[in-house]
Amino acid sequence: MSTSALAINFAYVISAALFIFGLKMLSSPATARRGNMVSAIGMLLAVVVTLFAQGLDYKWILLGMVIGSAIGLVAAYKVEMTSMPEMVALFNGFGGVSSLLLAWGEYHENPDLSVFIAIVASLSAFIGGITFTGSMIAFGKLSEKIPSKAIIFSGQHIINAAILISAAVCTGLFAANPQNLYAVFVVIILISLVFGVTSVIPIGGADMPVVISLLNSYSGLAACAAGFVIGNNILIVAGALVGASGIILTRIMCKAMNRSLSNVLFSGFGAITQAAGDGPQGEIKPATAEDVYYILEAADSVAFVPGYGLAVAQAQHVTRELGDLLEENGTEVMYAIHPVAGRMPGHMNVLLAEANVPYDQLVEMDDINPRMDSVDVCVVIGANDVVNPAALEDESSSIYGMPIIETHRAKTVIVLKRSMNPGFAGIQNALFFAENARMYFGDAKASIQALIAEFKGSD
Ligand code: TAP
Repeated sequence: MSTSALAINFAYVISAALFIFGLKMLSSPATARRGNMVSAIGMLLAVVVTLFAQGLDYKWILLGMVIGSAIGLVAAYKVEMTSMPEMVALFNGFGGVSSLLLAWGEYHENPDLSVFIAIVASLSAFIGGITFTGSMIAFGKLSEKIPSKAIIFSGQHIINAAILISAAVCTGLFAANPQNLYAVFVVIILISLVFGVTSVIPIGGADMPVVISLLNSYSGLAACAAGFVIGNNILIVAGALVGASGIILTRIMCKAMNRSLSNVLFSGFGAITQAAGDGPQGEIKPATAEDVYYILEAADSVAFVPGYGLAVAQAQHVTRELGDLLEENGTEVMYAIHPVAGRMPGHMNVLLAEANVPYDQLVEMDDINPRMDSVDVCVVIGANDVVNPAALEDESSSIYGMPIIETHRAKTVIVLKRSMNPGFAGIQNALFFAENARMYFGDAKASIQALIAEFKGSD
């Protein structure tokens, strides 16, 4: 190996190490921000070294970088926190299509591929194509540009199986004779684009985050295969890391919903939504700011349970302020985090970190549930599905089996939301009618501000 090749590979090893350290740091809110930066530096190093090593035509690369950076910058500044999963879906899709184009471009330039490279080129194009159209459908569903519920069509499993078999047959044919089968390569690409649509369209409802994470993993696998096609070690490593971490996150999310991956992919969850008026009924007990103030003021322990509504109301800062006031009042304060609360993995952690909530006050679902009976007050802020007891008790419920934060077992539960409307899964919540529950209606931020005013007024 020449000295320059050694130097390039050495730089790639450093990049790979930075990716791995960065990923490790993402596992704690305290180090996540730095972890992101460390991985980004690793990527910068990889890009710079690759550009210098390859002797490429920089004119096109610079143009691409300028246009891409401008679009990325504007999009990242403009995106709402609650739309982050949609943005991730777009990123995954673009990652997939770049791997597809990379494999196609390489084959177009040099059709004389070995059997191995022909196979990885087909894989890169196939997985990249699925990732592209699958992510576009996921984006459309999340942004409600297309109906977000599962769209089931008859013979769906048979059609998808037939598509997969044809892709495998085409890959076999292509690998045996890549020089003369350009058209077969194009057919593989077309099949992948169709499969991305037919495999994601029947998935809906609360399962979209899992699909996004899975597509993220696919984008990594496509990049890894593309790395083999163009013989770039760092692309192979980075792709494998994205592929593996995406699969791990997918597994964690499935576990958090108590579902298997095959159930998520093939069950059509969310195709049937509860009709308005269905589900638990009963009498609710509304509460005013003053009522809630007296309950909180007398509590020894309070657990805030944030959900999607906290994000919508941007109530993280006022929640922290209320937590501080309670602490000054001698109350033990906790923030109980459900792994799929909100609309993206780690959504609640990000919001609470933004409001500088101390990390030691964050309690995971599995740690708070065993001690729930001794919690004086749970304050549910814009959460619904993640505290719905139907997940434990009602076998007919679409969220049955999903672990929840068991706020119904606390001595008192106060629910902050604007109306009796259901949450993401579209089902009513028996918690709201429970004996120990009080409904405190209104926008979460305004409601908490009113509580803060009560606390301050009482000084
Ligand atoms: P949801 O079940 O969606 O409930 C959110 C509640 O917030 C709604 O009932 C809504 O009631 C209330 N709300 C909305 N705006 C509000 C405001 N300004 N002030 C006060 N309340 C407000 O949320 P969740 O409990 O966090 O559960 C998350 C759901 O999303 C789960 O089903 C999960 O599977 C799914 N999901 C999760 C993710 C990830 S990865 N986290 C991604 C996509 C989907 P009102 O309209 O009456 O106010």
